[in-house]
Amino acid sequence: MSRAVVSWIAGPVLHAVKQGPFSLRESVRVGPQALLGEVVRINGDRIVVQVYEDTTGLRPGTEVQGDGQPLAIRLGPGLLGHIFDGLLRPLSGTGSAWVQPGMRSAAGTTWQFEPLIQAGALLTPGAVFGEASDGKARAQACLAPPDTSGTVESVVAPGEYTDTATVCVVRQGDGRLRELSMSHIWTVRTPRPVARRLPAQAPLVTGQRIIDCLFPVAQGGKAAIPGGFGTGKTVLLESLAKGCNADVIVYLGCGERGNELAGVLDEFPALSDPRTGRPLMERTVIIANTSNMPVAAREASIYCAITVAEYFRDQGLHVALMADSTSRWAEALREVSGRFGELPGEGGYPAYLAGRLADFYERAALVETLGGSTGSVTVMGAISPPSGDFSEPVTSHTKRYVRAFWALDVKRAQARFYPAIHPLQSYAEDARGFAPWWTAQGNGQWLALRQRFLTLLDEQAQLERMARIIGKDALPARQQLTLLCADLVNEAFLRQSAFSEVDRVCSPQRQGAMMRLLGRFIELAQAAQTTGIGPEHISALACMRSLQRMGEEIADHELPRFDELQARMEREFAQLTPEPEDRDATHG
Ligand SMILES: Nc1ncnc2c1ncn2[C@@H]1O[C@H](COP(=O)(O)OP(=O)(O)OP(=O)(O)O)[C@@H](O)[C@H]1O
Ligand SMILES: [Mg+2]
Repeated sequence: MSRAVVSWIAGPVLHAVKQGPFSLRESVRVGPQALLGEVVRINGDRIVVQVYEDTTGLRPGTEVQGDGQPLAIRLGPGLLGHIFDGLLRPLSGTGSAWVQPGMRSAAGTTWQFEPLIQAGALLTPGAVFGEASDGKARAQACLAPPDTSGTVESVVAPGEYTDTATVCVVRQGDGRLRELSMSHIWTVRTPRPVARRLPAQAPLVTGQRIIDCLFPVAQGGKAAIPGGFGTGKTVLLESLAKGCNADVIVYLGCGERGNELAGVLDEFPALSDPRTGRPLMERTVIIANTSNMPVAAREASIYCAITVAEYFRDQGLHVALMADSTSRWAEALREVSGRFGELPGEGGYPAYLAGRLADFYERAALVETLGGSTGSVTVMGAISPPSGDFSEPVTSHTKRYVRAFWALDVKRAQARFYPAIHPLQSYAEDARGFAPWWTAQGNGQWLALRQRFLTLLDEQAQLERMARIIGKDALPARQQLTLLCADLVNEAFLRQSAFSEVDRVCSPQRQGAMMRLLGRFIELAQAAQTTGIGPEHISALACMRSLQRMGEEIADHELPRFDELQARMEREFAQLTPEPEDRDATHG
């Protein structure tokens, strides 16, 4: 391995004089503690290194050792259920909450190995050759590394092995033997290869009505959640992690304050999976890189997280990756770039910000894996634009790469209207394609109802502008009715408390029932209005309160209650009789 000697240090950046060849992006170890770092530039006989750990106490003259390969992590059965730092070193299960300097990614746990292949068989890249289990959680697939193929020479008998022990030996095409264990190493900045990328088919079901019904993201798609300070980004990401229908959750806390992440760390281990009743942590990997951890490691954490997500995707699983927040990641990029002395671009960020964001979001996909199964990585990234300004560089570049945009609105959040996703500033480019999926769920009217709600919300915004000038009471009855219907859609449907036992997750069937009920309300209200019934009589109907509160009052398993509510609503509308003065009101 090559060596170099440190000549200059400034925070996480150091210069060293080469005494052998280094390559760009090569992973290095610095000093006696073997602090992790990466070569970011080569200038003649000097290398520039960014160090991922605290460099306090390092001096010129310290030795740097090359690893001969780019930054890499170990992927294996020991990931699920644990908490790691930004370089995938364990923060949980080690007995100590703190990573020791120079520590490498997790390894060394013992698993029950079950071979699924025999000597003499052909092993192809990415194929499943065995299963690892701990007797509690679901068994995990052991994958051949994507760069390995050949004939199986030998495989061990079922039994307990550590995740780095050789369990299978393969003779490769070039005649050389390769030893495989239940885990393998992968370089984080290289996307893991797939057989092919597939077009979006189904939405990721998130259990959040405003997302699933109005702004759905594809399974294997990418979404951004921009929102100013305190608008509910973290709560929303956590709700998605708890309620979405992914098989595996990778939660990246990137540069947020430690106490924000403490919420996730405290809460997750206690939660159970609504689908299986098993602990939610069993299918979760948390990567925590809080604002007090070294800044360069924050830059790497986003690649570690997406590599972990791809690894589970390659096992034929659907993975959801939540990143909170990509702005803190971009700030790390900016800070480290400043220390390299690079020319700052827009907003002080380096010129390659856009490219790096693209590299990250591009890795979200629905794919056919090398092993022949279908898997996906859906990426959802929070953005914290300074002073909530969506024209700043991180938001505007991200917008180019994501297909769903869930814009959190300060006014909604201030009114404690959650989730504070603004229905007119948000969008979902794949939405129309999901109509067949909704039809298969028994909601054939989904696309029409979605359009109707969006139009209504758009009209509401225009009418409210007008009402501010002339007063709400001066609006014609028909427009007052539009406002009434839009209020109901907001209140009864888009509002959804993350803290309500019944409503924090809403099944697609319940979402469909609520949508249809509100669609029917709008029809009846408009019909009543044409017979001259004033909006004040409609808003005084006894069923209004039940409609407004149906999300909190009718649970997923009580769907017939929506039919009862509808029957009641129909009766109450039928009893409305036009009064002469109402007629005058409509025409006046
Ligand atoms: N879906 C929700 N349901 C109920 N309350 C919510 C919801 N979302 C946010 N809140 C409330 O808003 C507060 C702030 O939310 P959160 O911490 O998620 O904001 P944030 O955008 O992540 O803030 P920061 O910019 O500091 O990271 C929460 O503590 C909670 O009280
Ligand atoms: Mg937050």
